[in-house]
Parts: sequence; structure tokens; C-alpha cells
Amino acid sequence: MSTPNLDHTVTRATLERMKRDGDKITCLTAYDATYANVVDQAGVEIIIIGDSLGMVMQGKESTLPVTLDEMIYHGACVARGARRALRVVDMPFMTYPNLREAMTNAARLMREGGAQMVKLEGGARIVEIVHDLVMQGIPVCGHLGLLPQSVHQLGGYRVQGRERDAAHAMLEDARGLETAGVALLVLECVPAELAREITRAVSMPVIGIGAGPDCDGQVLVLQDMLGITPGKRPKFSRDFMAGQGSIQAAVQAYVRAVKDRSFPAPEHCF
Ligand code: KIV
Repeated sequence: MSTPNLDHTVTRATLERMKRDGDKITCLTAYDATYANVVDQAGVEIIIIGDSLGMVMQGKESTLPVTLDEMIYHGACVARGARRALRVVDMPFMTYPNLREAMTNAARLMREGGAQMVKLEGGARIVEIVHDLVMQGIPVCGHLGLLPQSVHQLGGYRVQGRERDAAHAMLEDARGLETAGVALLVLECVPAELAREITRAVSMPVIGIGAGPDCDGQVLVLQDMLGITPGKRPKFSRDFMAGQGSIQAAVQAYVRAVKDRSFPAPEHCF
């Protein structure tokens, strides 16, 4: 198990090396400078400024109402708090319907929102857009499986890729995104076996949330892993605050558990 190096700035090359060496990559969400600093200093490699902030920060029912300006605001807050972790900012709902809008909006996230990479949800539908963003020098993280921006199309927040055809389509989507040049891929709520197959099939690091233990790394929503999200805890999360005396200690416990492969355990997987 490797110990995080707090003097080292995390880059795409760091993550590629970690995939190659089989070192588990840790990732958490953050939306403000103070928590970003805690996460950064605990040794987490990637901070996702997720549009989950619609629910977590704004108390909304989904990510759909989140605006580009709000992502820019929270991205810039996190950039002031994090010194070493790689910052990935979500492109919110309907900010990448075509290449032109995707380019303008991704550029704003990079210029004004402190993004070092942008994250887009979807597969074949967005492959050309991803390719063109990458060609313009904008690093992109893909997102497959449960796509919260498509929750109404999917008919709810449920595990994706259980049926053979859907699993095959997701593998093809992952390959398409790889060819388009994504630097990272998030897999959300995917059966562990399919996530393992995808992780082995592609060259970019794959970060799972509810996608089993065999992804190259793990991500959780910070408030979920601190056990403070109102309502039922998602099956794929664990309360890392339990038995810890501080938020810092809880985040460090998460980093240790991902690195030593004790998280996710079978009860967190589909
Ligand atoms: O919006 C978000 O927070 C995310 C992560 C959970 C992957 O997309």
C-alpha cells in the first residue's frame, strides 16, 4: 500500500502511473475551500467539484437545476483550498448540447472555475464533443453507468448495465471515450463484474462509485462518507466518521481503506 506524498502535485501522469502500478486512487467531492483543504491534506488524489452540489449544498432534488455560474463559483472556492489534488469540475446539465456550447462552457470552467479537467456524462452521444475538447487541450473525464443528469430518462437512480446488451453498450461507450481521448472515467452504480471488465479493457484510470472493488480508484460524495447526508445512506457508501474524533481523521480513514482495499466491501457493491 503506497502512502500519499503531500509534497507532490497530482497530475494526469500520476494517475496513469498509479493505474499501471496497481496503486488505488482516492477521490472525494468538495464544494468549498475549507473542506477542499481537509481532503487535499489527507492525501486524496482527485477532488471532484460535482454537480451533486445541487443536492448537497443547495438542498435540491436533483443535479438538473445547477448552473454553469454555480459550478464556476464552487470550482474557484475549491481551487483556493486545495494545493495538490487534481481538480475535476462537472459540466452541468445542458451545458454541452453541441460542440460550440461545450467549448465555450468548458473554457469558462478552466479559466474562471479553477478546473484542471472537466467531467461530462454520457457515451456515444458525446464522443465527438469529447474528442474536440481534448484536441483543444481541455482534459476530459467521462462518466458512465448511472447518469444523474439523465435521471428522468433512466426512470430513477438505479444500477445500470445489469442486462447483457446494456453491459455490452457500456463497454463500447468506454472504448469510444478512450479513443476520443478521455483522461479519466467515472463509473457510477455498475455491477462489480462489469466495472472490472471495463477497467481492464481501457487504458485510462477508472474511478468507481458503487462499481465494486476492482476499479483503479474510488470516489464518494464527502457528506455521504461523513455520514451527514440526510435520509438513507446509499448502499455503496460507508460512514467513515464512525469511531473517528475529527473530520480530518475520517477522511484519512477513507484514504487508508481505499488504499488497503478494505473499501468497498461486498456489502457496498452491486
Ligand atoms: O456530481 C458528483 O458528485 C459526481 C461524483 C459522485 C462522481 O459526479
